Amino acid sequence: MAKMATISSKYKSFPTLFLIIIIILFQTCLHNCQAGLVDDIGVAICANISVAGVGVSVGNNCSPEAEVPAPLAPPPAPAPTPYPPLQFESERIKLVYQAIQDLKAKIKYDPQNITVTWVGSDICNKYKGFRCAVVPGFGVNGLSDVQFNGFNFGGPELTLDGFIEKLPDLSIFHANSNGFTGLIPRQITDIPYLFELDLSNNKLTGQFPYQVLGATNLTFLDIRFNSFSGAVPPQVFTLDVDVLFINNNNFQQQIPANLFSIPAIYVTLANNKFTGSIPGNIGKASKTLSEVLFLNNQLTGCLPPEIGLLNKATVFDVSQNQLTGPIPCSFGCLTNMEILNLANNQFYGIVPDEVCNLPNLKKLTLSYNYFTGIGLACEKLIKNGVLDVSQNCIAGFPNQRPVKDCLAFGYKPKWCPNHQLKDPLNWIPCRQGGPRRMTRSISTGAAFPVSYNALQPQRL
Ligand SMILES: *[C@@H]1O[C@H](CO)[C@@H](O)[C@H](O)[C@H]1NC(C)=O
Ligand SMILES: *[C@@H]1O[C@H](CO)[C@@H](O)[C@H](O)[C@H]1NC(C)=O
Ligand SMILES: *[C@@H]1O[C@H](CO)[C@@H](O)[C@H](O)[C@H]1NC(C)=O
Repeated sequence: MAKMATISSKYKSFPTLFLIIIIILFQTCLHNCQAGLVDDIGVAICANISVAGVGVSVGNNCSPEAEVPAPLAPPPAPAPTPYPPLQFESERIKLVYQAIQDLKAKIKYDPQNITVTWVGSDICNKYKGFRCAVVPGFGVNGLSDVQFNGFNFGGPELTLDGFIEKLPDLSIFHANSNGFTGLIPRQITDIPYLFELDLSNNKLTGQFPYQVLGATNLTFLDIRFNSFSGAVPPQVFTLDVDVLFINNNNFQQQIPANLFSIPAIYVTLANNKFTGSIPGNIGKASKTLSEVLFLNNQLTGCLPPEIGLLNKATVFDVSQNQLTGPIPCSFGCLTNMEILNLANNQFYGIVPDEVCNLPNLKKLTLSYNYFTGIGLACEKLIKNGVLDVSQNCIAGFPNQRPVKDCLAFGYKPKWCPNHQLKDPLNWIPCRQGGPRRMTRSISTGAAFPVSYNALQPQRL
């Protein structure tokens, strides 16, 4: 308000011409403002005067009250206003500020004092848990990553709703091990670049979060370790994701027939209540599927021989189910298999030696079944510690089931209703049309299988 007057008094002794120029500029400004023409130029002129005059950089609003006389003393340091207007590095960043502050208000438990950094306008550099990147089509920074993994945020009203859908430039949302509750907002589908959604180990309940089905750009969907229940909608398995972790929930349903339409590399259904048998169309996943965990569900029926088509598979775990039948010979085609776990089922018959000959096998677990025989290659693996056949019915081997249990099992009727092939058990897909492919895979290091890490609640 008082700046103009201050300027004129300060420049009293200057040459008249200079003063006149100042006055003219000032009047232009005043005129513009009075005439209601406070346009960009008008404001800019005034701002330039004040900058040149006394070095005050902001806050000139060109109002007529500027004429009110001011004290001659240098202006006092501006009193800190309680809510200074924030200057954001871009309009995209400005967009998300309020959503972050609203979330902060809901976080009642913050053991790592993360939210104390959520002050001011420098979201990209100062706020822990957030990262920015240039938004395609805008050419300026936007909020691209939320990385809340392991922050343990909590609060009775800590919901994703009201937060995530207000971050339009989001590409990664990782919130492993927090206390988020409630629903996933439907508007999540309006976030065009959302590629990774990790809500694992939170307090999410209810039906499968069907809202994510519209987020068709997702490549990573991790909702393991929540309390989701009911059925998984079939559309989930048409998502073009690389990773689908839905283990450790309460999903209860017949295993979906289109499960293997999913082009994922890692699929974990473990520790749920899936029932029914493994679909025979599992071969559809052969181009992509590397690790699949069915362990600890309620699966029944026999292993479809088409599993032998999974030539990219490195981990296959169906342990702790109620599966039965012999191991199909097609398993001898799983040339990249490293960890094969069939333990704690009701498998029987002779273990095909082809399985024990698989070139990349690191662990073959067949314990707690009813197998009655193994070949030479398998014996070798037992000596190497690769194969575990404890608690089966293999005569002459240590640590087997009591004979009476084996006899009782042997008398039970057995059949494999889900076999679609003519001679399913002897079908060896990799032998068709030429010599058997048994090339050693070009292994990319000895990384621990990704999917087993998913069986821990912590982040991957
Ligand atoms: C005000 O000054 C800035 C830089 O100091 C300049 O870019 C701008 O064009 C000036 N505005 C006017 C209206 O003279
Ligand atoms: C968080 O802040 C509180 C209070 O200022 C302090 O007692 C505690 O040690 C801090 N915790 C961490 C992890 O910095
Ligand atoms: C997926 O991403 C593209 C840009 O790569 C975008 O145009 C499209 O709207 C996105 N789809 C959804 C459903 O967000």
